Amino acid sequence: MTNPTPPTKLRMAVLGLGRMGLRHAANVAYRTPRAELVAGADAYVPSLEKAKGELPPGVYLTTSYQEVLAMPNVDAVLIATETASHAKLTIEAVKAGKHVLLEKPISIDVDAARPVVEVVKQHPEVDVMVGFFDESYQYAANKAHSGELGKPYLVKSASNDTYDPTGFFVQYAKHSGGIWIDAGIHDIDGARWLLDVANPKNLRNPKKQVSYVYASGAIIRHPGLAEHGDVDSAQAIINFENGTSSNIHASRTSTHGHDIFCEVFGTETKLYINPIPSINKVQIRDQWGVRNETTSSFLDRFKDAFVNEVNEFVGAVLDGKPMPVTVEDAFQASQIAVALTWSQRHNKPVLFDDDGEPILSE
Ligand SMILES: NC(=O)c1ccc[n+]([C@@H]2O[C@H](COP(=O)([O-])OP(=O)(O)OC[C@H]3O[C@@H](n4cnc5c(N)ncnc54)[C@H](O)[C@@H]3O)[C@@H](O)[C@H]2O)c1
Repeated sequence: MTNPTPPTKLRMAVLGLGRMGLRHAANVAYRTPRAELVAGADAYVPSLEKAKGELPPGVYLTTSYQEVLAMPNVDAVLIATETASHAKLTIEAVKAGKHVLLEKPISIDVDAARPVVEVVKQHPEVDVMVGFFDESYQYAANKAHSGELGKPYLVKSASNDTYDPTGFFVQYAKHSGGIWIDAGIHDIDGARWLLDVANPKNLRNPKKQVSYVYASGAIIRHPGLAEHGDVDSAQAIINFENGTSSNIHASRTSTHGHDIFCEVFGTETKLYINPIPSINKVQIRDQWGVRNETTSSFLDRFKDAFVNEVNEFVGAVLDGKPMPVTVEDAFQASQIAVALTWSQRHNKPVLFDDDGEPILSE
């Protein structure tokens, strides 16, 4: 009897080894059976030192992402640098022939994102995926798309980040693109998916998915954000052309932990994803009453989602399957995030034109 041929492994590198990148690198190294972590790059030497202590000894670490892109033994890169560099690095990686798993969002502005969509179209031999949702969102989307809720018509969601008094977050905000591009993007992505807004069957003009958006915001606890034109509590309304809508609250002020939840309203049924943000199933009964402890950050809440997304990406590349989340999806979500940012800063609604572009004018 002959031994079956072992499955080929995807040889991966991670660019950016900060909060998110180091978690991704460890997931590729230890929790992705069909991938191998070959290299990592970070421009900041202390990030590399930390990575050295947490990653397998054979992983090549460098300050130069260009060096990694030139390595012939790297098949794919996971890009987790700060958002402002995503578009540039993705374009260079695709041109170097590497498959790309890109951390959300695609860019901090639409003009920088456009060439990414173009370069991906020009290189069909390269696979590119942007982010992925966790199991509960997948489960809810399956129900919404199967007709089990009747007609889904509204997604009401909130991304409440834990209040950070250390000052890290204000510094981070400098390159993040603002609350809609950095945090609200998850809610926008979720609403687009759950409400099936890109389905041409429900659109008069397939190019136009959004009718108009409106956002407002305020600085509640991080005065330093004013310097970056950002806010730490904001609300949005998005009206889609298929007759559905989304209502979002994004904040950085939660004192009880990372609290991210989502309600999906259908004509027959409502779904509620993560109504109580418990860290586990343990209930505590003490002098303060009956309670659960909370997920402290996105790293707790989405720890399995981050593993799933790498496994999905690796499986799709190795098996030649379509990418579950495309650059086009990410581009559409970014357009909405940019329109919400403009709306919040100008205190005006933003209409979308017949080409599906937000009309950003005074
Ligand atoms: N999916 C999620 O839930 C989620 C959560 C947090 C952050 N993110 C995304 O992950 C990305 C990184 O966020 P983070 O919180 O890890 O930030 P971070 O600041 O902790 O890490 C970014 C790292 O990239 C490095 N870097 C920047 N430019 C580089 C370059 N040209 N070459 C090599 N290294 C470079 C920096 O030195 C830093 O170590 C952001 O785009 C953010 O939007 C996603």
